[in-house]
Amino acid sequence: MRKLIISVLVLLSSQTFASSGHELQSATIDLGNKASLQRGAKYFVNYCLSCHSAKQLRYSRMAKDLEITPELVELNLMFTGEKIFDGMDISMRPQDAEKWFGVNPPDLSLIARSRGADWLYTYLKSFYIDESRPFGVNNSLFPKVGMPHVLADLQGLQRAVYKDVEIEGGGVRKEIDYLEIAEPGRMSEREYDKAMNDLVNFMTYMGEPAKMERHRIGSKVLMFILLMIGVFYLLKKEYWKDIH
Ligand code: HEC
Repeated sequence: MRKLIISVLVLLSSQTFASSGHELQSATIDLGNKASLQRGAKYFVNYCLSCHSAKQLRYSRMAKDLEITPELVELNLMFTGEKIFDGMDISMRPQDAEKWFGVNPPDLSLIARSRGADWLYTYLKSFYIDESRPFGVNNSLFPKVGMPHVLADLQGLQRAVYKDVEIEGGGVRKEIDYLEIAEPGRMSEREYDKAMNDLVNFMTYMGEPAKMERHRIGSKVLMFILLMIGVFYLLKKEYWKDIH
């Protein structure tokens, strides 16, 4: 029995290893950092919202949470024709998207929950030149991805550097060792990392406005309870005053 359990455990762990063979880099998530969230929102609207929607996030909600005035949101973060109470939608029709990309760019409202912040951060840094792909780029974390490298003007283009990995039973196989900048973009590597961190911070926020609201309500409830305890205490003192 013990042997069976051990072999199941070994199997499980080797499988998780195989499915996450790519090392993830960690993003710093801080939903209290409003400046970072605001910068992230700007990147999201300018670079992602043309193809991906985030329907669960209303502009009005974002304005409130990120402490941006509705006027500034309308001016800087919204395209013509949208209303402040609308969710973040796109005008591209699904059938056109399929035609252009072969797949439909998914709604990203909850992507940080399903993929995790570190996965997103690594994904946005893992595009590299691959002429065999329709858009000339591939992604080492998401091989054969149907998304072009839309941030190439910021990051530049990376090339893959390969290493030989010995295959069991003889022979070698080429595997990506690391990615390096082949053509620089407008940002240095550090600036790009910071920008992607802001973007992922914002995408994490996108999946959690409800949570932020809960926090806010939570502290109000707590204040209320404390206040009531105080009131009851005074009342009790008042009632029992004459009995003692
Ligand atoms: C030109 C259109 C386009 C733009 C702009 C774009 N994407 Fe994509 N994206 C796609 C397509 C198409 C896919 C589907 C890829 C696939 O499944 O092969 C995709 C997939 C993704 C995925 C993977 C989803 C999953 O888990 O399957 C993530 C994450 C993502 N995009 C994030 C972003 C972010 C962040 C931006 C902005 C920086 C962005 N995308 C901008 C077209 C786009």
